[in-house]
Amino acid sequence: MGGFAMKGLVQAVTLYRVRQATGVRDRLQARSEGGAFVGRRAELGLLTEQWRCAQRGTGRVVLIRGEPGIGKSRLLREFAATLQPEVHTWIEGFCAPFFTNTPFFPLIEGFERGFAKPGDKSRAAVVARLRRSLTDLAPRLDYAVPIIAEMLDLPLPSGYAPILLSPDQKRRRFIEAIRRLDT
Ligand SMILES: Nc1ncnc2c1ncn2[C@@H]1O[C@H](COP(=O)(O)OP(=O)(O)OP(=O)(O)O)[C@@H](O)[C@H]1O
Ligand SMILES: [Mg+2]
Repeated sequence: MGGFAMKGLVQAVTLYRVRQATGVRDRLQARSEGGAFVGRRAELGLLTEQWRCAQRGTGRVVLIRGEPGIGKSRLLREFAATLQPEVHTWIEGFCAPFFTNTPFFPLIEGFERGFAKPGDKSRAAVVARLRRSLTDLAPRLDYAVPIIAEMLDLPLPSGYAPILLSPDQKRRRFIEAIRRLDT
């Protein structure tokens, strides 16, 4: 929007108008500079080793933590690149400080991204895609449609009865539905 004189500042400050969210997920993506990946052989090797265990049927969870900017996201991105030729499913979920009061935020946000497409005219279109995706995965997942729709604040699709359960029961049904998505 050009330069503006601000009270107390000698130089003009350039202001920008926010138009829309970019869909960029983290700082690493926002910078989008590549640059050669240096070192981290041991860390990559460790991730690969755990992945091989998981492939053989021994599930693995890896926690990567370290100071800001130490290279956690980059390590994951490089690991993801090594997986490219292999059969795998990559699911990403993000937490954010603004959403500490939103239960299941990473899951809900992931679903939103997975099912809502830029061209969607209405929430009804989103819920229709959710229903198709779930029943394409497995017809028996049909029961999960109203549960997930409600978690995503989507209207109940026609032909489904509203779920009359306590919040705690709904929570449990939601977790159960999520677990079944994987089987
Ligand atoms: N092994 C590496 N070789 C080259 N560049 C690297 C390496 N690891 C990280 N970088 C670069 O350093 C910067 C910070 O890395 P990254 O964003 O992965 O850090 P992070 O630990 O995820 O930080 P944050 O905690 O802020 O999310 C990026 O520009 C990334 O490309
Ligand atoms: Mg990061």
